[in-house]
Amino acid sequence: MQQVNLGMIGGGTVGSGVFHAWQTNGGLMAARLGVKLVFRRVAVKSFDEPRPYPIARELLTTDWQEVVNDAEIHVVIELVGGTGIAKTMVLAALARGKTVVTANKALLSAHGKELFAAAAKSGANLYYEASVCGGIPIIKSLREGFVANQFPAIYGIVNGTCNYILSRMKAEGAEFADVLADAQKHGYAETPPDLDIDGFDAQHKIGILASLAHGFWVDHHQIHTEGIRDVSKIDMEFAEKLGYTIKLLGIAKQISAKKPGVQVSVYPTLIPNAHVLASVNGVFNACFVQGDIVGDTLFYGRGAGKDATASAVLSDVADAALDLKNNAKTRVLPFVAHAWNGRVVPMDDIVSRYYVRFSVVDKPGVLAKISAIFAAAKIGISSVIQPEGHAGESVPLILMIHDASNAAMRKALAKISRLPVVKAKPVMFRVESFD
Ligand code: NDP
Ligand code: HSE
Repeated sequence: MQQVNLGMIGGGTVGSGVFHAWQTNGGLMAARLGVKLVFRRVAVKSFDEPRPYPIARELLTTDWQEVVNDAEIHVVIELVGGTGIAKTMVLAALARGKTVVTANKALLSAHGKELFAAAAKSGANLYYEASVCGGIPIIKSLREGFVANQFPAIYGIVNGTCNYILSRMKAEGAEFADVLADAQKHGYAETPPDLDIDGFDAQHKIGILASLAHGFWVDHHQIHTEGIRDVSKIDMEFAEKLGYTIKLLGIAKQISAKKPGVQVSVYPTLIPNAHVLASVNGVFNACFVQGDIVGDTLFYGRGAGKDATASAVLSDVADAALDLKNNAKTRVLPFVAHAWNGRVVPMDDIVSRYYVRFSVVDKPGVLAKISAIFAAAKIGISSVIQPEGHAGESVPLILMIHDASNAAMRKALAKISRLPVVKAKPVMFRVESFD
């Protein structure tokens, strides 16, 4: 049986998970692939760092160059993370003609174009299944299973940490900080966790999916991104009363405006409770993918954690091993640029529905003042709730807003915020109807 030698850089949460999964099912993989997979070296930062699963001591080194420079290693697995030294490691491995497997969405988001150009130059492949949605085979599905499709829309719950936090806040009324600490304990969160909470991890992932689906590498600076810090218990409760659940959603949607393009964005979104994405809870991720030929499809699974992510890493290792076994690239390449005029539509031009919560003084005429500003901006209000039982200097006033552009909404809210009867910055979330 042919043998493919593996070198791994990083033996932390995911790296040790990969090693453990290989120990458990490496024999099964060999039987299925007709290729024996053998670990030759694993680089870590420190020998003494505690690991979720042990890695054989004789394989460990603290010099990552021993991995990329080993002529016997065919496939390099990068599981260090970040955009600094990891970039040097990946480029060094590709330059030596080695296939690279990475779970590093931050790196791909920031430098994907350059990395795929380096892979093309060296003739090696760069695989990245584990970079989006943990164990869900979403990359391979878009790339191969849906090769005959265009993608009118992809909606993804792509950050396990945020979904875990939002789900527990909703179900248990739990405090944000306590739930975040639990997500960190489980190994779901990035270091630092702000990458998750502020929406950047989801930005990296939806950018990768949009790039793959639409055939141009999306510049992450063009992805409108909002995190979950402003989602409070009170908004969850009002959303629930209105028939919605709040989820952090990554969206990649074709927009047929005067100048067509793709909306690529991340923000907390009100999803109708009846929609399947509303019931995706905990660390689970899901991607609702609409293909022009296949129609609606749904992918669901664990979006983070050592074992689920290891499953995705090893699926890339399997593809890399088959490339080597067949001495040819028999599959669709990991990323193919095919839309040179691809464009991200600016957020201001995106039309949406909205949930807005104002904190206002409780006296007659307040609603009239607010609705006059919306009316002047030609923005329609679809419903109003002013719940009773709130005492104090200000009370909540909730408005559901008909379709309006983000630019129009932004300007109207700026004007409303300046009204003396409005006591705090309005809270605004977009509403997705999946039309
Ligand atoms: P960890 O922090 O747990 O592991 C990082 C590993 O890199 C550690 O083993 C560390 O060594 C090693 N390392 C750091 N610097 C160096 C260096 N200079 N040379 C050699 N080794 C080094 O991170 P995760 O395993 O959580 O994440 C790895 C990647 O996977 C990231 O890109 C992350 O975004 C991605 N990912 C993570 C998921 C998760 O659920 N955690 C899910 C999907 C993707 P040491 O152990 O000695 O400190
Ligand atoms: N921090 C990431 C998440 C890990 O919570 O989704 C998986 O990519």
